[in-house]
Amino acid sequence: MSDLNPFLDPARQQELYGHASRLAGRTGALMRAKTSGRPVPETIVSLVQAHHVQPDRLSLVLDIGCGRGTSSLVISRQLRPRRVVGLDASLSLLTQARGRAQKLPRTPVDFLEGDFHELPLLAKSCDVAVAAFCLYHSPRPQEVIAQIARVLAPGGLAVLVTKGLDSYREMDQLVASSGLDARADRHESLYAAAHSGNLTDLATSSLDVVTVQDEEHTFAFDGHDHLAQYLATNPKYDLPPGLYGNPGALAATLHEFLPDQPLTTRSLITFVVARPKGGPA
Ligand SMILES: C[S@@+](CC[C@H](N)C(=O)[O-])C[C@H]1O[C@@H](n2cnc3c(N)ncnc32)[C@H](O)[C@@H]1O
Repeated sequence: MSDLNPFLDPARQQELYGHASRLAGRTGALMRAKTSGRPVPETIVSLVQAHHVQPDRLSLVLDIGCGRGTSSLVISRQLRPRRVVGLDASLSLLTQARGRAQKLPRTPVDFLEGDFHELPLLAKSCDVAVAAFCLYHSPRPQEVIAQIARVLAPGGLAVLVTKGLDSYREMDQLVASSGLDARADRHESLYAAAHSGNLTDLATSSLDVVTVQDEEHTFAFDGHDHLAQYLATNPKYDLPPGLYGNPGALAATLHEFLPDQPLTTRSLITFVVARPKGGPA
């Protein structure tokens, strides 16, 4: 097993995001468990409405690390910019995002393959740039933020979103107490590169921070079967062979070692809103 944080390991990222169905299963299980916390795409929209000077006259919104395009589509429908571009490194996720967009009439979103360390957009071309839950996949998140600063037009706005370092620690404790990975609560956080505690400093390297918003989100999993649908693709743990990527086998093993029980877990979600340096306040 490599010592590299799995969220920074290209091979583990390919495992996670190379197959759209894996991300959909994992996200679906988490969203079914959610009991508090506003949907993140809606919060992004309201932050743009509150802090952009002309939120109803946007030309181009860039959604960096767009994944399956969930935020890109909500932004397109609710902010109605002339165009949204979703950018991601995973072809499989982009294919799914394009399919979802095709089913929605009057939703002009283009999905583009690319690396967020070299955004394939002209300088000063974007009114809004969103980077949600992706900066922690970069070993050099300041470079991504410098790219965001480059593509933002004067008066433009960046919305950066990440999670707290100790998000889902109750899951770590459950996995440790099951004995499946006795060190589960001692691994480095998956969000170590860009988390609630350092995102403002990262943003300040190239942007002027306008506001920071923290929100606690709570998730209640029904029991081992539900939890295994999320845990089976969590690369944080050193699970015994055959369990990673296999929710059925993982659930069966959890049932063997721990009485079935609901699990409530939490994640701090941090939104940093920022502008190009030195622009109008
Ligand atoms: C957890 S998903 C977030 C998806 C979406 N933003 C959301 O909020 O649901 C992280 C995304 O970052 C993408 N990603 C990771 N490294 C990237 C890179 N170097 N360039 C572009 N996208 C990248 C992954 O492919 C994945 O789709």
